[in-house]
Order: sequence, then structure tokens, then C-alpha cells
Amino acid sequence: MTKTKIAPSLLAADFGNLQRDVEMVESSVADWHHIDVMDGVFVPNISYGMPVIKAIKKHATKPLDVHLMIIDPDRYIETFAELGASILTVHYEACTHLHRTIQAIKSKGMKAGVSLNPHTNINLLEDIINDIDLVLIMSVNPGFGGQSFIENTYGKIKALKELIDRKNASVLIEIDGGVSTENAKKLTDAGADVLVAGSFVFKSKNPKQTILDLKLVAGGN
Ligand code: DX5
Ligand code: ZN
Repeated sequence: MTKTKIAPSLLAADFGNLQRDVEMVESSVADWHHIDVMDGVFVPNISYGMPVIKAIKKHATKPLDVHLMIIDPDRYIETFAELGASILTVHYEACTHLHRTIQAIKSKGMKAGVSLNPHTNINLLEDIINDIDLVLIMSVNPGFGGQSFIENTYGKIKALKELIDRKNASVLIEIDGGVSTENAKKLTDAGADVLVAGSFVFKSKNPKQTILDLKLVAGGN
């Protein structure tokens, strides 16, 4: 049985105590640090950029799972490789030449992920699924933490799982937005391999315990 991976989203961390929060994730049962990069164009919000990621990396040994919510991500692939990203995820909706972008990410030694907005159909991945390492299904509209989970996500996970099986692909399914202990088990049962959680972890009384709770509730496939 493979345990579901937990990736706390540092978007919800206390930026005044970033080292403390990164170290908390390091000492927890979390698997990855989820890092949201927003440009104020692809999404209506701006999060943080290179200097902050450099600071995170200084205290992180667990993989950096970087989620780019930016237009034209090709411009920064090399930079994110230098910053130490292990997984680099771009949005389907932000890439005109997605296949080229994926090849560029992999050529820099990173795992390549593709993210879908809530309205983007799984079938659009048919011709790229064998080239990628991860699909990140947005279960809220990207741009902000603390939003409510969109229920349609379960059906999308099942459709993706079917596509992966049919194409005999080796791809992790990651869910991002509104994840909590309320829905973690249902997401894993539907086929999720990685759960991102921001507010639910960092706004809780004991974030380290909350990460453990998520891991235990999520179980594994
Ligand atoms: C939203 C980001 C998420 C966000 C999730 O655009 O991609 O990673 O941090 O936050 P919660 O878990 O609070 O919905
Ligand atoms: Zn994210």
C-alpha cells in the first residue's frame, strides 16, 4: 500500500516566521513543500518569487513541489531548476506549446507536472499524459488559499485515473484547494496520490499534528 503524499502549501505559512514554518514541515510526516507562484496575470493574485523560494530552499531537504500560476512559464524553467525545484508544474491553460514546455522542464532534471483549472476537461491530456510525471487537479479556482472545495473534483479524478490506466501512463494525481480531513479519504479513494493543504494545516492550532491527521485519514491506495 502506497501512502498518500501530503504537500503543505507554504502560501498559508507565516512569512514573518518562514524558517520556523519550513522547519515544522521538515519535522512532520509531510512529503513535499508545495510552493505557489502567482504572477497577477494568469491569476488575480501575486504570491512570492525567487528570493523567497531561495530562502525556503535554505531550510528544506524535502522536495520542492513548485506550482506555477503564471503565463509563459518557459521563461523561468531554468531559474526554477537552479532554485532547486524537484517538481515543476505548469498550467495547461497557460501553455501554447505544452509539449515543448514539458520537454524543457524534464531536460533540466525536474519532474514535469500539468495543472488543470476546475473547468478544464481531463480528456485534453490524452496526447500529453505519457510525457508527464504528475497532474495537478485544481479543486478551487487558482489564486487564493482558503476557498471551498469544488465537488466536481471527484469525477475528474476518476476520469483521470481511467485515462492513465487506458494509456498505461505513470502519473501521480495531485489535488490542490480546499483539502481537509473531511475530504482526504474520499479523494484518496477516488485515486489521488498527493494532497496539497494550505489553510487547513497552517491555520490549525497544531500544524504538525494536522499534517499527521491528514496522512492518517488519507490512508493510501
Ligand atoms: C491556490 C493554490 C493552493 C492553495 C491551497 O491557487 O494553488 O496551493 O495554497 O490553499 P487551501 O488549502 O487553503 O485551499
Ligand atoms: Zn498550489
